[in-house]
Amino acid sequence: MRDRQVSPRLRPLVAGNWKMNGLRKNLPEIAKICAAAAEGGAGEAELVICPPATMIMAAASICEGAPVALGGQHCHAEPSGPFTGDISAEMLKDAGAKYVILGHSERRSGHNEGNEAVREKAVAAFRAGLTAIVCVGETKAEREAGEALPVVGAQLAGSIPLNSSSETLVIAYEPVWAIGTGLTPTTHDIAEMHRFIRGQIHEHLPGRGDAIRILYGGSVKPGNAGELMRVENVDGALVGGASLTSDDFMAIAGVYR
Ligand code: PGA
Repeated sequence: MRDRQVSPRLRPLVAGNWKMNGLRKNLPEIAKICAAAAEGGAGEAELVICPPATMIMAAASICEGAPVALGGQHCHAEPSGPFTGDISAEMLKDAGAKYVILGHSERRSGHNEGNEAVREKAVAAFRAGLTAIVCVGETKAEREAGEALPVVGAQLAGSIPLNSSSETLVIAYEPVWAIGTGLTPTTHDIAEMHRFIRGQIHEHLPGRGDAIRILYGGSVKPGNAGELMRVENVDGALVGGASLTSDDFMAIAGVYR
């Protein structure tokens, strides 16, 4: 895609969020992604798969030597302790993860994770040596009320640690109403939001805003990825449903060939 308008300095990132899907029998899908990536199927893009935590260790041995990194889908802010059922950033790192998704709308709404909690988890991710993919996005009602920009602005202000850099932070704009629905914003609305996010991170992280990647997520599919990834300030994708099959995931990443 020679005509992409993203800054040539930013290496695109295509991340797959498997959510609560995946058993050992699905590991060959990860092996297929590794094989396709090793053959250059993702072009200049960096690839990350975020499977359920139970799969990370096995996936890490499959991905060894391949240009595919692994990530978790959430973490606790503490490194260890009496937090039954939780998983720490250090544990994800120990299992072989390089990234962790934080503040996904399904965590914000289903587990009451507010901006402050997301920020604490991002600090934990940095402490453990992980890169946080911090998700922000408005609901349908908020967009219809004309509140999308201020809502996302408040999420960014509350969720991003002020010592973040391009090494430790990726932002994912995921409108809640676009997740798993087949709906996407217009490219005009995505461009407006990503420009806004770029401006906000410039303000919060002086001198670092240009280097931080801003992903778009929400119903990214092979059929719309080319159009979405061409939008200015879109530095890659966070992909849910379409990341579960290697063919679809690699067709999306293939827009960067
Ligand atoms: P979707 O999910 O691609 O299935 O819409 C995206 C996400 O929730 O990260």
